[in-house]
Amino acid sequence: MNSVAEVFLAPGAPSVQRCARCGTVRDELDAAPACPECGGLLEILHGRPVDASGNVLDALSIKHAFAQHCCARPLGYASGVWRFESIVMPSAGSAITSHPEGNTPLLSRAALSRWSGVNGLLIKHEGHNPTGSFKDRGMTVGVTQAVRVGATAVACASTGNTSASLASYAAQAGIPGLVFVPEGKVAVGKLAQTLAYGARTLMVRGDFDACLRLVQESARELGIYLLNSINPWRVEGQKTIVLELLQQLDWKAPDFIVLPAGNLGNTAAFGKALRECYALGLIDRLPRLVAVQAAGAAPFAKSFREDFATRYTVAAETVATAIRIGDPASWDRAVRAIRGTNGIVLACSDEDIVDAKVVIDAAGVGCEAASAASIAGVRRLVADGIIQSADRVVAVLTGHVLKDPGMLIELHQTRADFANANRPIVIDANVAAVARVLRETQSLSITP
Ligand code: F0G
Repeated sequence: MNSVAEVFLAPGAPSVQRCARCGTVRDELDAAPACPECGGLLEILHGRPVDASGNVLDALSIKHAFAQHCCARPLGYASGVWRFESIVMPSAGSAITSHPEGNTPLLSRAALSRWSGVNGLLIKHEGHNPTGSFKDRGMTVGVTQAVRVGATAVACASTGNTSASLASYAAQAGIPGLVFVPEGKVAVGKLAQTLAYGARTLMVRGDFDACLRLVQESARELGIYLLNSINPWRVEGQKTIVLELLQQLDWKAPDFIVLPAGNLGNTAAFGKALRECYALGLIDRLPRLVAVQAAGAAPFAKSFREDFATRYTVAAETVATAIRIGDPASWDRAVRAIRGTNGIVLACSDEDIVDAKVVIDAAGVGCEAASAASIAGVRRLVADGIIQSADRVVAVLTGHVLKDPGMLIELHQTRADFANANRPIVIDANVAAVARVLRETQSLSITP
């Protein structure tokens, strides 16, 4: 693992953007979506955190500052992103565009521990964010940067959650939002949010990968500020999922952190957060990152099995539409995250993902299908003997159950062959009808 001098700039130095491929360094207010020299992805480097007098903060003081920051100041600081601003975007100042967001719970449920095989399974539920997914953490920072660089419009390609989040934060900042989504492949809750928050919505005849190529080209040629997770500030915001969960665990790192993976922005963000926390001494050991893909959209898992010798692309297909991605953009960053944490990448079938979702939903927790990949992944790694039942495991649920009501109606109302369907019952408006239902209903609960 890298030393603090390799991971951070000199104490108090202003943040910069650095190309991960050729090393070119650019000012933090440069709005280019990628390295203008070589086209590589940019990453943010911050100065080592200091106090008001410029003295280097030790690990204890940094933890104390994070804790103090929470809710202590007016708007912006009730946020689970901005209390970590010293290692996210130290110079945001009054540009901050915050809902607020973050401060999501770390849950445990006996049913999910039982089903996954991990006794004390913890669930970081990012569906509790304001637009119902983890994207809000990256978007508050991305839109703040758009304000700082004077963007006239912001844009993204999306499988639905990023577009909903961009639409919400762009509306707050008063900047026009433009989103590119694959026609017919976006869950209805996400599309409805995007329209409601007022982003101009382009339904592209093509998949997510085609949308991403199109938005990158459009951003280059039309000067629109790009807010996909290739934008390094999005990564900075998404790091706070890890920062916050470590804080909730009193900085005692778990054995595994498990998350669903599509475009790999989040995997990259988790790796960067862990690298920085370890370098600053906030944690004394590194959890293993586990990235879980859907089997029909698993180029990264395939590459992992060959020690990342080849970068694959696939024509993606999965019921988990959020991660229906065949050519992930943050590939190299994510390889670094997996390698740097002795991580694991695996693929779970759609069947396993839906099984996990049904159990998560029936536990009263709920999540969208892609999110359930993380707990499906935990169960698989327990079966394979890689995760032990006594290990400390945090599985991240990335999106809210209401993101995809279409899938729920299909499972519970429309589909004839779903054994655990909780079918609604039409009755006449009298108590006798209610009594009959009570008599006839043997069990209303879903049996995992
Ligand atoms: N889970 C959910 C609910 C998502 O929406 C996404 C990505 C992921 C997991 C995977 O994260 O791409 O960083 O590996 N959604 C993007 C979107 C692609 O457009 O909303 P990733």
